[in-house]
Amino acid sequence: MNLAELNKVAIAMTAPGKGILAADESTGTIKKRFDAINTECTEDNRRDYREMLFRSSEGMKHISGVILYDETIWQKAKDGTPLVDIIKRSGSLPGIKVDEGTKPLPNCPGELITVGLDKLADRLPKYYEQGARFAKWRGVIDIGPGIPSYTAIHTNAHALARYAALCQQAQIVPIVEPEVLMDGDHDIDRCYEVTEFVLKEVFQQLYYQKVALEGIVLKPNMAISGKKNGKRAGVEEVAEKTVKLLKGCVPGAVPGIAFLSGGQSDEEATAHLDAMNKIGNLPWSLTFSYGRALQHAPQKAWSGKSENVAAAQRVFAHRAAMNGLASKGQWKQDLEKKAA
Ligand code: 13P
Repeated sequence: MNLAELNKVAIAMTAPGKGILAADESTGTIKKRFDAINTECTEDNRRDYREMLFRSSEGMKHISGVILYDETIWQKAKDGTPLVDIIKRSGSLPGIKVDEGTKPLPNCPGELITVGLDKLADRLPKYYEQGARFAKWRGVIDIGPGIPSYTAIHTNAHALARYAALCQQAQIVPIVEPEVLMDGDHDIDRCYEVTEFVLKEVFQQLYYQKVALEGIVLKPNMAISGKKNGKRAGVEEVAEKTVKLLKGCVPGAVPGIAFLSGGQSDEEATAHLDAMNKIGNLPWSLTFSYGRALQHAPQKAWSGKSENVAAAQRVFAHRAAMNGLASKGQWKQDLEKKAA
């Protein structure tokens, strides 16, 4: 393992002004997104949609890396150019989602464990060969009555650390993503408390499995109220609590943190990131690794029609630019209004 090189990649992934485009939806998930825009979920449509994003030269200026699904990393654009080459030419790094989704966790009703470790050591060199310089594995922790259990937190943290160690051995930067879901009606303090426990456990497991923190990127949720909570915390509170939480849990050796959007609205996700960076004086860089909050708007604008490609690329470029500014604490709400 060349740690200096891993560290360079992790720094590039979280460079101020840029962030990560999470375009690694599984076929089932992208089908749900396509259903919402009345677009058939064929292999060609998935290719055309993602090619549209990767060829958006304005948008890609703000994208340091793209997380791909297995299908996409091997796919070629309509003109035969490998999609990974289009990403690389834009100055962005290709990455790959390597987990194989979730399964019910035995003895823990309602809780999940992320799977995919078995053949991972054999798969990673092939992804490296194909151009992937980083990977992603998402563990999912739900908040509800009586959950999460310690079993779910521990088992998922253990799997994340096993994955991270295997990635580094293959000279691939692991994005370590322990996602505490925002689906419930819990308040921000409950989210804080659960996320704190989860992050403490994740860093303990990373330590036990000898993962070099200089060569990872953490992808956490923010400290945020559940979606169904009637009195959701505002932007300042989310920013202050998230920064406090991360300062207490994430060693300064980690080069960068790239948040997931997790179901926040597009503008909320931007405003939260911006407010955190406005606090400033942080030991790591803070940026985005958004899926939905970067793709909602371009998906709608595209709606499966080739005549909409230019409009969808403009919409994507706008969202990417807004989040790029937020990663430097330089976003202003006025900029949204001007674009609208
Ligand atoms: P969202 O930003 O839509 O939460 O997706 C990010 C991601 O990669 C989840 O694993």
